[in-house]
Amino acid sequence: MEQLVYLNGEVLPYDQARVPVEDRGFQFGDGIYEVIRIYAGRPFTFEEHFERLRRSAAEIRLPLDIARLKADALALITQQGLAEATLYLQATRGAALRAHAFPTTSQPTVVMLVRPAQPPDEALLRTGVRCLTVPDDRWARCHIKSTNLLSNVLAKQQAVEAGCYEAIYLRDGYMTEGASTNSWAVFDGVLWTAPKSNYLLGGITREVLLQLAREDSIPVREEPVAAHQLPHADEFMISSTTSELLPVVELDGRPVGNGRPGPLWQRLFTRFQQRITAECGRGLARIP
Ligand SMILES: Cc1ncc(COP(=O)(O)O)c(C=O)c1O
Repeated sequence: MEQLVYLNGEVLPYDQARVPVEDRGFQFGDGIYEVIRIYAGRPFTFEEHFERLRRSAAEIRLPLDIARLKADALALITQQGLAEATLYLQATRGAALRAHAFPTTSQPTVVMLVRPAQPPDEALLRTGVRCLTVPDDRWARCHIKSTNLLSNVLAKQQAVEAGCYEAIYLRDGYMTEGASTNSWAVFDGVLWTAPKSNYLLGGITREVLLQLAREDSIPVREEPVAAHQLPHADEFMISSTTSELLPVVELDGRPVGNGRPGPLWQRLFTRFQQRITAECGRGLARIP
């Protein structure tokens, strides 16, 4: 099946989709986005992602017809016909002569792509991943899923160059989140994650995991986690739409707990796979 692109209401072959050079997404990062996972051909937490898109659009005062975009997204998913995939949606303030203030004439540019996706590598689930911490040098509106990702890009690159999977941001001595994930620590059987604020993105996966933890009677604290406590964590994990829930076995070069994926990660990961199956009907073959 050829790669399709949704562009402002039209579905085009990939090579024919064009965005003007003065699109504000390109010049200012004046845009927002969503990434939605598709399992067994069905979108996971679809409503939640579009609700966050609505909130992001409201925050940046971008007029979007969310109901129309939802219908168009579902149609594109069907048309592209991929069982294991992600839907990437980006909406910008559109094209206009370059000037910082909002243009009066432009219409939003909306692009959607459905691309093949793989679940996280089995090896990563078995062995876990390494992370490093970096100063959180981002702005104070990290709750908006903005296409302004330069800090995140630089942090991720630093992690990759250090042989790590993810960079974990620290702001004023506290963990906020990863460059493209939410982060979790376990102390004495209690699962901790930073509370929602303007300093982190409220992950959709984070919400699902919080719900699953509560259903499974896992004690949870949505409270600040001090950086100096991190070396004493029994477990550490990161979550996102594409990474699902990954065990972190090394942080800043030191082993986390016994240096292997821990029991709480295992429990939550299993519950997460069951949740995917319940919503999308995918098999459970991946539980390690
Ligand atoms: C900065 C940041 N935090 C958290 C997340 C996780 O969000 P979600 O679970 O909705 O994918 C992402 C996902 O891309 C992200 O970029």
